[in-house]
Amino acid sequence: MPDIDIRSLSASPEATAQLGEILVEAVANGGSVSFMHPLSPDAARAFWEGALAAAGRGERVVLGAWDGEILVGTVTLLLDCPPNQPHRAEIAKLMTRLSHRGRGVAGALMRAAEALAVERGRTLLVLDTATEGGASGLYEGLGFVLAGTIPDYALKPHGGLTGTMIYWKQIAARG
Ligand SMILES: CC(C)(COP(=O)(O)OP(=O)(O)OC[C@H]1O[C@@H](n2cnc3c(N)ncnc32)[C@H](O)[C@@H]1OP(=O)(O)O)[C@@H](O)C(=O)NCCC(=O)NCCS
Repeated sequence: MPDIDIRSLSASPEATAQLGEILVEAVANGGSVSFMHPLSPDAARAFWEGALAAAGRGERVVLGAWDGEILVGTVTLLLDCPPNQPHRAEIAKLMTRLSHRGRGVAGALMRAAEALAVERGRTLLVLDTATEGGASGLYEGLGFVLAGTIPDYALKPHGGLTGTMIYWKQIAARG
C-alpha cells in the first residue's frame, strides 16, 4: 500500500470538495452508495456538507485516507443509534478513488473504523452492500457475517434493481 494517512475529517471546503469528487466518481462507476448516476458535483458536496456537520455534532465519524494532499478514500462510522442500541454502530459510504483501488486503502479504512468503534465502546457493527457491484468479499475477509439478502432492494446507479446483503460483526470493546 502507498504511504496512506488515515484521519477523521472535519468540515472544510477542501474536505467537502474532495469527498464530493470521490462520490461522483464512485457513482459513475457503478458504486451502490445511495445515489443515482449522473450525480451532480453540487449534490455530492451538499451531501458531504451535511455529513460533516453531523460529524461535528458527534453523530458520526467520517474517516479520510490521504495520499499526500489527495483524499483517496473514505468510510463513515454512524454512531447516532436509537437509545436502546448504544452499543451499535454502522459502517457506510466506503469508497476508494479509482486511481488507488486494489492497494488496500478500503481495508485500512475499515480497520481504522473498527478500532474507532471499539474506542467508543461499541460492540456491534452492521453494514449492507449491494449483491451486484458491492463489496461483500471485502467485508467477509474482515470477519463480517452475512445475516441475509433482501432481493430488489435498491436501484443500481445506472438503473435496474439489485438486492442488498446485510452484514454484522461483533467487536471487542475495551474495559
Ligand atoms: C469497494 C471498494 C471500496 C474497495 O476499495 P479498495 O481500496 O480497492 O479495496 P482494498 O484494496 O482495500 O481491498 C481489500 C480486500 O478486499 C477485496 N476487495 C476489494 N474490493 C472488492 C469487491 N468489490 N468485492 C470483493 N472483494 C473486494 C480485495 O481483493 C482485498 O482482498 P485481500 O485483502 O484479500 O487482498 C472500491 O472498489 C469502491 O470504492 N467501490 C465503489 C463504492 C462501493 O461499492 N463501496 C462499497 C459500498 S457497500
